[in-house]
Amino acid sequence: MNAEIDISNVKLETERLILRPWRITDLDDFFEYASINGVGEKAGWEHHKNKNESLEILKMFIAEKKVFAIVLKKNQKAIGSIGIEECRHDLNKNLEKLLGRELGYVLNKDYWNKGIMTEAVSKVIDYCFKTLKLNFLIASYFNYNIESKRVLEKTGFKFYKDIIVKTRYNTEEKSTLMFLKNKN
Ligand SMILES: CC(C)(COP(=O)(O)OP(=O)(O)OC[C@H]1O[C@@H](n2cnc3c(N)ncnc32)[C@H](O)[C@@H]1OP(=O)(O)O)[C@@H](O)C(=O)NCCC(=O)NCCS
Repeated sequence: MNAEIDISNVKLETERLILRPWRITDLDDFFEYASINGVGEKAGWEHHKNKNESLEILKMFIAEKKVFAIVLKKNQKAIGSIGIEECRHDLNKNLEKLLGRELGYVLNKDYWNKGIMTEAVSKVIDYCFKTLKLNFLIASYFNYNIESKRVLEKTGFKFYKDIIVKTRYNTEEKSTLMFLKNKN
């Protein structure tokens, strides 16, 4: 079900953004948003307590080759991430033969509500469907996270099912799994 992904030589461009692989030199930008309480928590992970923690995750992003840095063209700052992750949810049997992945994303709080993640997610959908030829994408949001719900609605995802997500900080969050089919 999970397609092979390698974004290590991929660079995508939108009006305001460059989506490219993470680099070690992005550490300060990464730590800037990952260390703010209440940002990563909405995506299921605890904010980073020191730069070394960010460095370890950054090295993992680079090694795993499936997470884009979202870079603002106007100042070349890395302001968020968007990952083409493995599907970790039970899906209908008829999807098992098809290729799919799960999108996950986080944005620096200073840049919220400017349509930036919608712009980034739209481009990654395009890449997944037109270049990688995936059959479908899924994504989930905690039900209290209206902003993430809106991003998924605006990019065409539809309700798939209700789920419970266990976070890395050991809570269980009522969540919604959303689904997008490749109609190309
Ligand atoms: C979710 C997140 C990526 C959204 O990024 P963004 O660039 O601000 O998203 P956009 O600007 O493209 O869209 C946000 C939408 O939420 C809406 N919104 C924001 N706060 C809202 C609120 N309190 N109530 C209702 N709608 C709200 C905005 O109005 C906008 O919708 P609109 O275009 O219909 O007006 C960002 O909030 C974030 O990084 N959150 C923390 C991490 C996270 O939640 N990741 C997702 C895990 S599933």
